[in-house]
Amino acid sequence: MADDYVYSVRMRAAAGGPHEDGGRHVSGAERLVDAVDVADAVSSLTRRAMDREAETDFVRITIDRLRRSDVETTQVLKLRTTPAMAPAESISHARLLLVESGIAKEAVDAAFAWLMGSTAAGALRGARLVDSRSGADLTPDAKRGVRASRFDYAPGAAGVVEAALSDVGLTHFRTREALALATKVIWAGVAAELCWSDEHGYVAGYVATPRDGYVRYADFKPAGAVGGRIFFIDRSKIRPEPVVDLLERQSLWITGPLDILRMAT
Ligand code: COA
Ligand code: AMP
Repeated sequence: MADDYVYSVRMRAAAGGPHEDGGRHVSGAERLVDAVDVADAVSSLTRRAMDREAETDFVRITIDRLRRSDVETTQVLKLRTTPAMAPAESISHARLLLVESGIAKEAVDAAFAWLMGSTAAGALRGARLVDSRSGADLTPDAKRGVRASRFDYAPGAAGVVEAALSDVGLTHFRTREALALATKVIWAGVAAELCWSDEHGYVAGYVATPRDGYVRYADFKPAGAVGGRIFFIDRSKIRPEPVVDLLERQSLWITGPLDILRMAT
């Protein structure tokens, strides 16, 4: 029966040829939808890739049919906005938040040192895994990184989340997508996530933790920095391998409602 299945629809686009042949990643997005919504998902993801038409030489859309009974669900992380701050202040705030959430100072220092020192040439194709106690690099493949995939808002939930974000002026699609990605990351057992975007001129970023949810900094990425993501793992509580497996393979629907709070400094 068609109702027994859902579909993972994923898009990736690259400049200079396919990723497999060394093309530069330009754009990626994904959906997890019922059969009836597959055609719309393909169309919107294609439009998304074509938004970057001037750079894009290669687009691949992949559709995988998955058993509905294999899809897990979780509620979207609560979102906290922070007062207007310059990047240096946002970074100090984020450092403190991470330490208060149980990430060792050594690990926070290692993460920011890596994010600040990262170059476009040295960028990973996913997130770096960092031991939350020592700061040691746990990434299984140091050039690839670990990628969250096979997640989306559940049918009907994207509109609810979009409306709640729009009420506080957060209308950029990146906020909605990053919130979904961070929700999957924390659901998978990651102790904290730290991110700023690759996108030139997009300076917002966030810290996500089980305690505080998704804490958004409007002005986070320092001038000249390239993008990056860190997933902190507490190896004394959890092994990295099953977490990576959940992040990359387990399909997940994210439900509303979205709670939005204002965070004081
Ligand atoms: N950055 C750079 N390269 C990427 C990439 C990324 N985010 N995602 C895929 N690639 C390239 C890599 O070369 C990869 O090979 P590798 O596994 O050896 O690294 C190759 O494409 C194939 O990757 P695969 O995972 O099989 O691609 P896919 O067709 O399943 O597409 C994406 C996966 C891009 C949809 C998924 O990885 C992703 O990023 N999903 C989240 C998108 C999202 O919501 N982003 C919002 C963040 S704000
Ligand atoms: P972006 O938010 O797309 O600008 O990406 C910022 C950084 O996040 C990139 O430099 C990658 O290191 C990392 N990244 C991109 N896609 C993923 C993903 N699906 N899962 C984990 N990390 C990712």
